[in-house]
Amino acid sequence: MNDVRKMIYGTLIGFILTLVVWFSIVYISSCGFSFTCNKGAPLIDRTPIPTLIPATLPVQGLGGDAAAFNKCQIAAVDLLGAWVTAGVPETDKFTFTDVNGQSCEAVFARDVLPLFTESNLWYPGSLSCSSCHSSDLAKALQNMDLSSYAGILAGSGRANGEPQGKDILGGGVWEDSLLYQMVYAPNGESLIGRPIMPLGRTADVPDKGPVIFAGRIIPTEETADATTTPSP
Ligand code: HEC
Repeated sequence: MNDVRKMIYGTLIGFILTLVVWFSIVYISSCGFSFTCNKGAPLIDRTPIPTLIPATLPVQGLGGDAAAFNKCQIAAVDLLGAWVTAGVPETDKFTFTDVNGQSCEAVFARDVLPLFTESNLWYPGSLSCSSCHSSDLAKALQNMDLSSYAGILAGSGRANGEPQGKDILGGGVWEDSLLYQMVYAPNGESLIGRPIMPLGRTADVPDKGPVIFAGRIIPTEETADATTTPSP
């Protein structure tokens, strides 16, 4: 009787020991001697590389969104004219009517200055005015600095850095100004028989220079409403 009992207990204890040893082997082989093992945590159901890039930019409207695209279009010479006629404001806005008949407003630094300082603007390959008429007055052609507001107002012929040279803005009367006469080129020729600007400009450039994007449409009550009230 005792023997049978011993056999049963022996088998049970043996079985439990085998289980303990077996689980220990499995645990230690995958986790080592650590209780902070998370190998058994449920699998996270997702791809390791995020496939959806978070959208951080504002939503772009499809088609003509009036609020996002409100630039005006005007010929370069007409934009210069509007600025001179408005009394050459440096920071104040001035207004003009663009080629589509829209009422627009512009500011010197953003809209007018690039006509003097950007290359490739008057025609592909054109030099900027300020590359020849630079702020280094001694070297600048016609001793004229067209690279800044002050320089443009100071005019030409400032060989010794005179604060004021020959006015090129016609005293505010656009069509009388030397600037107008040098950049307006009906049939590719200047009205006063001098080389047309930017120097090297060919006859295929339009009379009044290229039509460029400049200024902004002045919001009327109608368009202001349209931007705040989305259509259904
Ligand atoms: C490649 C060099 C060059 C570039 C670029 C250039 N000019 Fe000139 N500019 C000249 C030269 C040379 C003269 C003198 C022309 C002459 O002999 O009548 C001149 C003369 C002028 C004059 C007359 C000044 C005076 O008192 O006689 C004005 C105004 C003028 N340029 C404006 C501009 C404007 C505006 C631009 C840009 C749209 C420009 N220029 C681009 C070379 C250049």
